[in-house]
Amino acid sequence: MQMVELETAGIVKRFGTLVANDGIDLSVARGEVHAVMGENGAGKSTLMSILYGMQAPDEGSILLRGQEVRFRSAVDAIDHGMGMVHQAFKLFNSLTVWENVVYGREPRRGPALDRRAAIAQVAALAERFRLSVDPTARVGDLSVGVRQRVEILKALYRDARILILDEPTAVLTPQERDGLFDVIRTLKADQRTILFVTHKLHEVMAITDSVTVLRQGRVTERIATRDTTPAEIIRAMTGRVVNLTVDRKPATPGAAVLDVQALTVGTGAKPVVDDLSFRLHAGEIVGIAGVAGNGQTELIEALTGLRRPDGGRVTLSGRDVTETDVEAHRAAGLAYVPEDRAVTGTARAASAADNLLMGYQRKAPFAEGLRLNAKAVAEHARRLIGRFGVKIADETVPVGTLSGGNLQKVVIARELTHQAPLLIAEQPTRGVDVGAIEFIHAELVAERDRGRAILLVSAELSEILALSDRILVMYEGRILADIPAGAADEDRLGLLMAGRTGQAA
Ligand SMILES: Nc1ncnc2c1ncn2[C@@H]1O[C@H](COP(=O)(O)OP(=O)(O)OP(=O)(O)O)[C@@H](O)[C@H]1O
Ligand SMILES: [Mg+2]
Repeated sequence: MQMVELETAGIVKRFGTLVANDGIDLSVARGEVHAVMGENGAGKSTLMSILYGMQAPDEGSILLRGQEVRFRSAVDAIDHGMGMVHQAFKLFNSLTVWENVVYGREPRRGPALDRRAAIAQVAALAERFRLSVDPTARVGDLSVGVRQRVEILKALYRDARILILDEPTAVLTPQERDGLFDVIRTLKADQRTILFVTHKLHEVMAITDSVTVLRQGRVTERIATRDTTPAEIIRAMTGRVVNLTVDRKPATPGAAVLDVQALTVGTGAKPVVDDLSFRLHAGEIVGIAGVAGNGQTELIEALTGLRRPDGGRVTLSGRDVTETDVEAHRAAGLAYVPEDRAVTGTARAASAADNLLMGYQRKAPFAEGLRLNAKAVAEHARRLIGRFGVKIADETVPVGTLSGGNLQKVVIARELTHQAPLLIAEQPTRGVDVGAIEFIHAELVAERDRGRAILLVSAELSEILALSDRILVMYEGRILADIPAGAADEDRLGLLMAGRTGQAA
């Protein structure tokens, strides 16, 4: 009989009239990996922040190992053995790994900080839980995957018995995700308990022991993972059947919309983007596959005007935009869904209506001379909120309070409805629920069929394969292969992404 580590009874959390958590009962055994699933806005992050002491519930109770607890703050929760890795990491970039990990609980020798002991302790902890990281590295120099390990180390250093991971894999490459799963297995073997929030069903099936499904703030399913299926979980989340495959006809590409010639970013013997050329046509979706760090980020920065290339030429709808900024790119016909919705994608304090308008404000019917037509702006916003299923009270609400996936929908809605000939979409379905993925994929294909050229960057190979008409594999700053979608599968792409072009036998 497994011991119950964590229980909640009737947790209620309201924001004004909105009920984010509506009587949630949770029960998680010690040493279990427990998935928490639900559509965007279902109340997952709210529940996690209550369990971590960041907000107090309006009603209900939390029991740890059978004892009722009331957290007054996150520090209080940490003292009770709770740990949390937030989606937006809370580390000091200018400090080293060990400084971040021991911060506030430094080992001392007399009055002085014992640097040597701190480094040794962090190294030992990393070794024990298979979190390979150099304690003396500066956090700002580390990749996202390694920074996440530092966050986990920080929680373990404070002896977290229960670790909350809120969409930890959303920002990871497939390789980094496999590394995280190894860490989770090690934690489990040590009888630590994990709460794992994700939108990815294959991850739930692969790593979790049991799952709680939320829908509109209520529990609709609590089941052992081995006794359920992805289809059943989706039904509990959405109340309907979701089509996970994308229906699309073969593309009928037209004229070149984007022409990239000998593009180079960086100088020296090995530029990050290295003499790269390709064309993207109207009516086709071209996917970029590659292991993170092979120049994709810099390529997109150069194509969107965020960064001036060091060589080559970029032509957008017949205009040379090589040396111009983002605004000029937009004027020439670029719509752009950036990877980072919270920083570059949206203005948090501004309303949904303003965020949905960003970039269009000088166009009819929104502009009337120098003034904005408030009615047209509001109507436009309400239409997009409805069509994209953004969960929000109304269009005047600041987007800063939206759940992660709903914020992503705002960015997607704005950029998809631009009439720009070129759409560059980076991780377009990051953080959105399965129903929204189905919808966004269908919209992307519909835009393609209306003649738009779409450049898709995604860490999910399954998404690249489902949507692309052609796939460019990037390796060390170059395009290693340009393959029609019909000739690609995960195995072949995997080999190419590792730089192997030889006969894949
Ligand atoms: N501080 C807040 N003020 C107002 N509303 C809030 C606040 N925090 C959350 N909400 C609302 O509560 C609801 C639940 O949000 P929550 O972030 O818990 O959803 P989620 O299940 O984590 O969704 P996602 O999958 O998109 O991350 C949403 O409608 C959200 O807009
Ligand atoms: Mg969330």
